[in-house]
Amino acid sequence: MSELSVNHLLGIKYLKEDDVQLIFQTADQFKEVINRPIKKVPSLRDITIANLFFENSTRTKLSFELAEKRLSADVVNFSESQSSVKKGETLIDTVQNILSMKVDMVVMRHPSPGAPIFLSKHIDASVVNAGDGTHEHPTQALLDCYSIRERLGDVAGKKVVIVGDVLHSRVALSNIFALKLLGAEVKVCGPKTLLPKHIESLGVGVESNLKKALEWCDVANMLRVQNERMVTSYFPSTREYAMQYGLTMDILRDLSKEIVIMHPGPINRGVEITSEVADSNYAIILDQVENGVAVRMAVMYLLASKIKR
Ligand code: NCD
Repeated sequence: MSELSVNHLLGIKYLKEDDVQLIFQTADQFKEVINRPIKKVPSLRDITIANLFFENSTRTKLSFELAEKRLSADVVNFSESQSSVKKGETLIDTVQNILSMKVDMVVMRHPSPGAPIFLSKHIDASVVNAGDGTHEHPTQALLDCYSIRERLGDVAGKKVVIVGDVLHSRVALSNIFALKLLGAEVKVCGPKTLLPKHIESLGVGVESNLKKALEWCDVANMLRVQNERMVTSYFPSTREYAMQYGLTMDILRDLSKEIVIMHPGPINRGVEITSEVADSNYAIILDQVENGVAVRMAVMYLLASKIKR
């Protein structure tokens, strides 16, 4: 396969396994490029990409922007706080206005689940979902699986546990879809209040005991507790959460085998994982960040090659 089966990246749910493998093979080439002294390729010259961020982001926005610049795309940035959205403009009007300036691709982060899907039905440009509310964050799941493949050789057959605030996490849902698509076994682990009801219907196991979950897995993906999305209290205190679900070096040393630790960032050091774990050799957190640029380059390169001009 040399072409993606989709014209937009709206969610992992819409991808086939071949799409993901094609993205990974393309990312392998771009990873080589970004480790060269001259990190830029002319692949997206004359393509204009708008980064529309309706929700705060530092690293995802930076990662997309860097990927776009390494591909020589022209980049425009929009963030809601400086825009006419505050003056009452609708989403479609905002985006149509940007597109009239001849933009080919839109990278969008939005607090409402489904916003990028809605947009893709109303505009001509190719849309990349950079996180829509608690729904999906497809490029994060792609870079997570790419990082597992890099560290462990393959994703198929690996056991992955996703720990923590699964309920509010778009990283969790996209990861579950991606890991299952690639043939991994998946469990979720966390306080019952932070695990969605019927999560088993997605084909994942549930384990409430952190140590048992870690003993089972090859990889643990430690999610951030999404305090900003919580409208009520889901656990008694941060201290209690950290005591039951926080990962420490002692827990890791007690396991019968060595496991790989991931985190999508930003980390609450001392809550999901201690600083010592985050900075240890078990963690591949900075590899994930590096791979994020290569994977996003691959996604945008493959989508751009489908744009009819
Ligand atoms: C994630 C997100 O925004 O969903 N972070 C990210 O993409 N850098 C995870 C999180 O915020 O916890």
